[in-house]
Amino acid sequence: MPREIITLQLGQCGNQVGSVFWQRLCAEHGINQQGILEDWATNGGDRKDVFFYQADDELYVPRSILIDLEPRVINNILTSPYSRLYNPENIFVSKDGGGAGNNWAQGYVAGERIYEEVMDMIDREAESSDSLEAFVAVHSIAGGTGSGLGSFILERLNDRFPKKIIQTYSVFPNTQEGDVVVQPYNSMLTLKRLVNHADSVVVLDNSALARIAADRLHVQTPSFDQTNQLVSTVMAASTQTLRYPSYMNNDLVGMLASLIPTPRCHFLMASYTPFSTGEIDKAKTIRRTTVLDVMRRLLQPKNRMALTVSSPTSCYISNLNIIMGDVDPGDIHQALLRIRDRNLATFVPWGPASLQVASARKSPYVTTSHKVSGLMLANHTSIASLFRRMLDQYDKLKKRNAFMEMYKKEKMFEDGLEEFDNARATCDDLMQEYKACESPDYISYHDAAA
Ligand code: GTP
Repeated sequence: MPREIITLQLGQCGNQVGSVFWQRLCAEHGINQQGILEDWATNGGDRKDVFFYQADDELYVPRSILIDLEPRVINNILTSPYSRLYNPENIFVSKDGGGAGNNWAQGYVAGERIYEEVMDMIDREAESSDSLEAFVAVHSIAGGTGSGLGSFILERLNDRFPKKIIQTYSVFPNTQEGDVVVQPYNSMLTLKRLVNHADSVVVLDNSALARIAADRLHVQTPSFDQTNQLVSTVMAASTQTLRYPSYMNNDLVGMLASLIPTPRCHFLMASYTPFSTGEIDKAKTIRRTTVLDVMRRLLQPKNRMALTVSSPTSCYISNLNIIMGDVDPGDIHQALLRIRDRNLATFVPWGPASLQVASARKSPYVTTSHKVSGLMLANHTSIASLFRRMLDQYDKLKKRNAFMEMYKKEKMFEDGLEEFDNARATCDDLMQEYKACESPDYISYHDAAA
């Protein structure tokens, strides 16, 4: 029985990332731009039904819902060679068409207005699944639509489907050269919903993506198209064990259970190596790809897609490596021993101090230039430094009450701005909880806080 996953693409970033993701999934499963399974794609041993369903005419259709408050990005998708891939009934573009003006409140309020229509689409997809496992939302937390409307939808999804997993791939803004002045407000308000209404958040930080693009692709100012290739590679790899199942990690519940031992600390960092030209234009060639090389590179902070600062006490809460390719289990065992002997990964004192490894098959239809590649999904306490950076930027802006007028115009903030303080407090709590994870006393953290 498939464990289906429904993807929700929200706003410019969500739809742009989503569209590259689907192009990648199509390539990996041998599905062409119109959704037709290629004649040669008969022997993949893959599960297409997790992310696609087959329409009456046998075409493969993404279980995806595309939502935006302005038409530009979705129009681009609908005039691209992949225009016929998506179910037109799963596309929502607001009739007003003006976007959310980089204003979280505008996006959130629009949610109330368009709720019925969007929920109809979600319900229809959910009902046509045999055994729906999860919703995956793709969005940025800095603009207006992905953040505000995304927040609204997360709250409602959680209410309506309390038993389903909600995972997000959340693009965090570049804190050094952000392109939205009010991004600290939008991000803080969204972070609160990510803490309270998502089960798992894969953090994709535009600051780190820009640095990786410079290092790996030799591009100093990467386009979104290039960073989105990095992101979609991570998204595809993080679902590899679901789409190419073996005896372990072939459902999301199992995978997340070991990565997220305590419910609020559910922000995951990702690393991927090596990016190859088969996957990404301009990727630098890496010659040696033994299992040990791959696993060692995955642990290097410079490869993480979140820019964080480690302290001497920072450590992993959990760490899953998905190793893809034709791999001898003995090599994995050897690599684990070497990593342990050299103390390359420090874990929290209260959990199993071990790196988990899942080995997964690669798509036979996408050729890459090396034998082994790997993805790390890690829950690491240094993520708190990213929240600290966000909080500092937020405080700087809020101290001057800068740009508050644009939020006060929306009904939800007419009577007061306590929600801003609430969101700030949630972020502060989260930082403290991550810090507390570094101590053996963490086990009694919630008793102490109660
Ligand atoms: P409105 O424009 O206000 O309607 O909201 P939106 O959610 O559509 O905005 P958008 O998704 O453009 O969010 C802005 C943030 O997302 C900024 O931090 C951008 O740098 C980032 N961003 C936008 N598009 C992309 C993209 O395709 N890839 C990546 N990695 N980041 C993006």
